[in-house]
Amino acid sequence: MMAFAHNNSWNPESWKNFPAVQQPRYPDAVALEHALGELSQLPPLVTSWEIESLKSQLADAAEGKRFLLQGGDCAEMFDECRSPIIAAKLKILLQMSLVLTHGGGRPVIRVGRFAGQYAKPRSDEFETRGDLKLDSYRGDLVNGLEFHHHTRVPDPHRLIDAYSRSALTLNFIRSLVDGGFADLHHPEYWDLDFVQHSPLRLEYQNITREIGQSLRFMETLAGAPVHEMRRVDFFTSHEGLVLPYEQAQTRQVPHRQGWWDLSTHMPWIGYRTAVPGNAHIEFFRGIQNPVGVKVGSGTTETTLLEIIHALNPTNEPGRLTLIHRFGAHEIAKSLPPLIDAVAKSNARVLWVCDPMHGNTQTVTMNSGPQAGVKVKTRKFAHILAEVEQAFEIHKQKSTVLGGVHFELTGENVTECTGGARGLGDDNLAQAYRSRVDPRLNYEQSLEMAMLVARRLDR
Ligand code: PEP
Ligand code: CO
Repeated sequence: MMAFAHNNSWNPESWKNFPAVQQPRYPDAVALEHALGELSQLPPLVTSWEIESLKSQLADAAEGKRFLLQGGDCAEMFDECRSPIIAAKLKILLQMSLVLTHGGGRPVIRVGRFAGQYAKPRSDEFETRGDLKLDSYRGDLVNGLEFHHHTRVPDPHRLIDAYSRSALTLNFIRSLVDGGFADLHHPEYWDLDFVQHSPLRLEYQNITREIGQSLRFMETLAGAPVHEMRRVDFFTSHEGLVLPYEQAQTRQVPHRQGWWDLSTHMPWIGYRTAVPGNAHIEFFRGIQNPVGVKVGSGTTETTLLEIIHALNPTNEPGRLTLIHRFGAHEIAKSLPPLIDAVAKSNARVLWVCDPMHGNTQTVTMNSGPQAGVKVKTRKFAHILAEVEQAFEIHKQKSTVLGGVHFELTGENVTECTGGARGLGDDNLAQAYRSRVDPRLNYEQSLEMAMLVARRLDR
């Protein structure tokens, strides 16, 4: 076991001395080295000062002074790197953050699962159809979805494509935000077409009207427009799964100590890779970014404390976010002992609830062109029940639930059931588009934000 003990001699490739799971096996080592060489020379996607700003905001969230909203696709797709889709994602996150700010009376930190969420862990390494056994689809960063030998072989060029599309996405987001898209004076800019027909329209419009009135009141008091309200920030996050990709974007920067993973502001370690003594913990312990860790019903107290100790030995505020994802039927049993263990250790963490990944069910489509095909879905009621229990449990334990993490989209998809419009399994075939996990659609996301906002004590 000594060989796997993390010691202090970290460097961006020290993870290679530890067991790494969920890594693509690239058959062409030369092409891989070439792509990584190129990636390591390309400019960074984010900057160290943005990362520091996020870290200090996350430290506030851990104390209940801010609230984290993290959300976006389960997996971004290369061919969805398009302006209407990106704009719709920003709109729904903006609307949700508005509703949460209004309900909670504290600033909301917006962190997208975007501009780099291209890699997926898989339960099975291979997929078999008939006689053909191929690599599982691992996200557009690694291979293609189509069930052909040539698309499923991990392709290093995709590392550059993923970087490029992340850059294009981020460039568009930054331009929209700088151009006044996120101006709180004009929440109507963020309306999506079907808000007009939504059962939640009145409640949402009341909230925006009240915010407009408060803004005008403040401007009357100040005798000038509130310029800070013209711009809000977005941060990026993705699962830091494919370690060579993260390594190639990890740099030192002038005037600051340490190493920075500049592929995203906030990488997180997935549930399947958050294993003490493995390569993911080794890699992420050495970077300065705030890091998230997914925690589930298989995470023991001992495991969690080892992970915390490895990733945040100095107990730095804002460094570590624990994103718990148990499922509505598990959280009451599994979360309290972990909270107790962390509290006893005096570790500073930000607790965040991901009510998506413990609530996935498989159903068979019963109509449409995909009839008979099995798809993953989630029930709105289960998602809500998990968040509500999370608030309750943290309250009982006197800890802070400082944020929520959702898989969602600004599109009108039918992937999760329930919500105000009462989608059922029969509706799934109408617009099921996710290649991996089911997302809340625009209306379900907004409704969820309204229900979560009611739980935020002012
Ligand atoms: C995800 O966030 O898409 C994911 C795979 O989650 P988890 O690691 O919690 O299963
Ligand atoms: Co997912």
